[in-house]
Amino acid sequence: MAGRFARQGARRRVGGSLLSAGAIVAGSYDTVLYRSLADRTVLVTGGASGIGAEIVAAFAAQHARTFFLDVDEVQGRTTAAATGADFRVCDLTDIAALRTTIAAIEAETGGIDVLVNNAGRDDRHSIAEVEPESWRRALALNLDHQFFATQAVVPRMAERGRGAVVMLGSVNWMRGRPNFIAYSTAKAAIHGMTRSLARELGPSGIRVNAIAPGAILTERQLKLWTTPEKNQEFLDLQALKFRLDAGHVARMALFLGSDESAGCTGANFVVDAGLTQN
Ligand SMILES: NC(=O)c1ccc[n+]([C@@H]2O[C@H](COP(=O)([O-])OP(=O)(O)OC[C@H]3O[C@@H](n4cnc5c(N)ncnc54)[C@H](O)[C@@H]3O)[C@@H](O)[C@H]2O)c1
Repeated sequence: MAGRFARQGARRRVGGSLLSAGAIVAGSYDTVLYRSLADRTVLVTGGASGIGAEIVAAFAAQHARTFFLDVDEVQGRTTAAATGADFRVCDLTDIAALRTTIAAIEAETGGIDVLVNNAGRDDRHSIAEVEPESWRRALALNLDHQFFATQAVVPRMAERGRGAVVMLGSVNWMRGRPNFIAYSTAKAAIHGMTRSLARELGPSGIRVNAIAPGAILTERQLKLWTTPEKNQEFLDLQALKFRLDAGHVARMALFLGSDESAGCTGANFVVDAGLTQN
């Protein structure tokens, strides 16, 4: 349901033709059934809006017991009502609160099977604008919680001998784009962290993979950065000539969270319609 809202918003603002050919039909996460997810507990960070809300909707549609964390209480309640998922308010930059919240969910459920480290913020800034405090804040928003949430869930996963962690990276750092150096640094680090965690946790049956989305139309992107000119630029650069939405990323998260990806770990799955081929 969240996906349907996101896609309708996108069409409203940038025109139907930009999201047409090749785009997936909205709200159809149950057309593929991942049987392994039906009895699993899933936790998504930053699940109130954008890609995270779509990931929440996707896992909930697979009948996984789905929890999500977000700092946005109002939007979190809306997404919870739309998807049936269980919402907990949590500021992910507060690591003590993150640990307590995860411990409470684990006490309730017996442990988390799939963790999707999704939350992030692509704030723009010049090099000259960066101060130690803003740099630390950017890394706290985009990197630290991905490690600490993973650290919190792996002991229970290891006890059961299985688990899947999905990190949200970005193609941003691969493309070397200007004006968000702190964000790019954090996103590049996520890919290194994914590979190290995968090696260390593999013997315990825990898989760790990353998704690198390209240019995804979300409400925030539409509100802050998307213009008709930018749209055209992405369409020109991509191999596939339609704009990606959060559903394209959510489908990859479902696959990586399910047992269908049992042979994959330490890998980076690019969902960018061919953007980084340039
Ligand atoms: N949209 C894109 O084009 C794109 C491209 C590449 C990578 N990504 C990555 O995908 C992920 C999701 O991006 P999005 O575009 O959906 O972002 P978004 O801003 O639309 O949604 C992010 C969500 O995280 C929540 N959040 C932010 N800070 C938080 C905090 N401190 N504590 C708890 N929740 C917090 C927000 O409230 C929001 O619900 C991010 O990791 C982002 O870097 C997005």
